Amino acid sequence: MAELLQIEHIRKTFPGVVALDDVSFSVSNGEIHTLLGENGAGKSTLMNVLTGLYHPDRGHIRLDGREVSFTSPRDSLACGIGMVHQHFMLVPAHSVFENILLALDNVPNLFKRKPYKEKIQALIDEFGLELELDTPVWKLSIGAQQWIELIKLLLRNCRLLILDEPTAVLTPQEAERLFAVLQRLKEQGKSIIFISHKMREVMQISDQVTILKKGRSITSLSRGNYDENKLASLMIGRDKIPQWQKNLQISDEIVLDIQQLSVRDDRGPADLDNFSLQLKKGEILGIAGVAGNGQKALAEVLTGLKSASQGRIMAQGSDITDSDTRKSYIAGIAHIPEDRKSIGIAPDMSIADNLIMKSFKSGVFRRWIFQDKKAIRRNAAEKIEQFAIKTGPDGTPVRYLSGGNIQKVIIARELSENPAVLVALYPTRGLDIGSAEYVHKVIAEGADRGMSTILIAEDLDELLKLSDRIAVMFRGRLVGTVDPQTTTREEIGLMMAGEKPVGAACS
Ligand SMILES: Nc1ncnc2c1ncn2[C@@H]1O[C@H](COP(=O)(O)OP(=O)(O)OP(=O)(O)O)[C@@H](O)[C@H]1O
Ligand SMILES: [Mg+2]
Repeated sequence: MAELLQIEHIRKTFPGVVALDDVSFSVSNGEIHTLLGENGAGKSTLMNVLTGLYHPDRGHIRLDGREVSFTSPRDSLACGIGMVHQHFMLVPAHSVFENILLALDNVPNLFKRKPYKEKIQALIDEFGLELELDTPVWKLSIGAQQWIELIKLLLRNCRLLILDEPTAVLTPQEAERLFAVLQRLKEQGKSIIFISHKMREVMQISDQVTILKKGRSITSLSRGNYDENKLASLMIGRDKIPQWQKNLQISDEIVLDIQQLSVRDDRGPADLDNFSLQLKKGEILGIAGVAGNGQKALAEVLTGLKSASQGRIMAQGSDITDSDTRKSYIAGIAHIPEDRKSIGIAPDMSIADNLIMKSFKSGVFRRWIFQDKKAIRRNAAEKIEQFAIKTGPDGTPVRYLSGGNIQKVIIARELSENPAVLVALYPTRGLDIGSAEYVHKVIAEGADRGMSTILIAEDLDELLKLSDRIAVMFRGRLVGTVDPQTTTREEIGLMMAGEKPVGAACS
C-alpha cells in the first residue's frame, strides 16, 4: 500500500512540559491506524500538530512524500486532513443541514443550497446513517452529532480522518455503527487515525497500532503481530496494573432508599419513572442501560442537581427528597459527573485548588481564616502521586491537562473526604487501562470501608467485574436486578432492551 502520511521526529513542548519528545510513524492509504498510549502520552497534542493547531518545535510531516507545514486547521483541511473533534462545534438551534453548510468555506446562499442537500443526503444514504437533515441539532443524540462532524469532512473530500476518542461518548451500539462506517471509508481508500483506550475496540478495528509513551513513539505493529496483553505491556507494563479484591462484607443496613421516584424531563417523557431501588452499606450497585434511559437523571436527583416530581428518597431513615436535610446529605455524597468539563472542574484553577474544592467546609486546608497553602500543596503532591496524574509545572491550570488526567483530578477530589455514598457516572471514561484499574481499586477499597457506590457504566465487563448487584434501567424504569455471579451478558442485554429477566432476580 502506498504511504499517505509520514510523521518524522516530531517534538512539541509547552512551558515546563515536553508533550511530544520524538514521534515517528507512517499511515498508508486505506489503513486504520490506532494511536495507543497512557493518559498524557501526547496523542491529542500530536493530532493538534497534524491538523495545524500547534506548530511543532522540530520534525517533519510528509503527505504523499512531500513535506507540508500547516499553520491552521484550514491548511490541513485543504490538504485533505480533517479531525472529528470531541467537543463538537455545532450550533444547537440550527438544523443538521445548516450546521453542515456552516462548515463550508463559502456558505452557499439560499438559492444555491439544493445541490448540497442532495449531495449530503447521498452521503447519508451511502453510509446508512440515521440522520434527518431538517432536525435541529439539540434534539440529536451525541452519536448523531458525531455523524454531522464526519459528514462535514467527507463533503470536503478528506483523505485522512482523525478521530480522537470518538467512542468515549458513544453507546456500544453507536460505536459498532461507527466502526461499520469506518470500514467502508477504508474500503474507499481513505485513511483513518483512531484513538481509543478501549482494548476490545483497538483489537477489532486497527490495521496498525502505534504506541506512544511519554511523548515518544516506541513501536508500530501491524495486525496479527500483537494481542491485548502485548499492547498493554508495551504501553504501561502489565506488572504496573494495580490488583484489588472485592469487598465481601455488605451489611444489611440500607443507606439510600429510593421510593417510586419520578423526575420530569424538560422536553418530553419522564427521565425517571416510578423508580425504586435500595442501596446497602458497603455495596457497589451497578446500573446498566443504554445511555439516555434515565441514568443521568438518577445521578442528578441523588446529588441535588435535579428535583423529583414524585416519590421519595430516604437516607438512613430520614426523608431527604426536598427538605433541608437534603443539603447535609448532599455534602456527604461524592459525585463523578458525566460532563467533567462543565460541572466537574474549575478549568482555570490549578490542580491543587481543584483538589480542595470539596473540602472547604472541613477546615483541613484552613489556618484560622487563611488558606493553609502548605497543606494544600502537600495534598496535591500526594494525590498527583497516588493517581499518577500527569501535570505541568506547579500551578498549571487544569484545562491544560489531558482528558484522562482531568478525570483523575475529579476522582481524586471526590474520594478524598471518605464519602458515605459515591454516585459515579461513567467514572473510567477516557482513562487508560492502568488508570481505570486504579479507579476500580479505589472504589473497591472504599466499599471495604463502608462506602456505598452507585456505579453507572456502559461497559458490561466493568459492571460485571466491580458490582455486587446490577440494576438494569429502561426508559426511566427499573427492569430488574441481577447477580453478576450468575447472570450473563445476554440476559443483561435483553433487559437493557426492556425485557424482564426470566430467572429469579436477586434483591
Ligand atoms: N496547551 C497546553 N499547554 C500546556 N500543556 C499542555 C497543553 N496541551 C497539552 N499539554 C500537556 O501535554 C501532555 C500531553 O497531553 P495530551 O492531551 O496530548 O495527552 P493524551 O495522550 O491525549 O492523553 P489522554 O489519553 O488523557 O487524552 C500533557 O502532559 C498535557 O498536560
Ligand atoms: Mg487526549
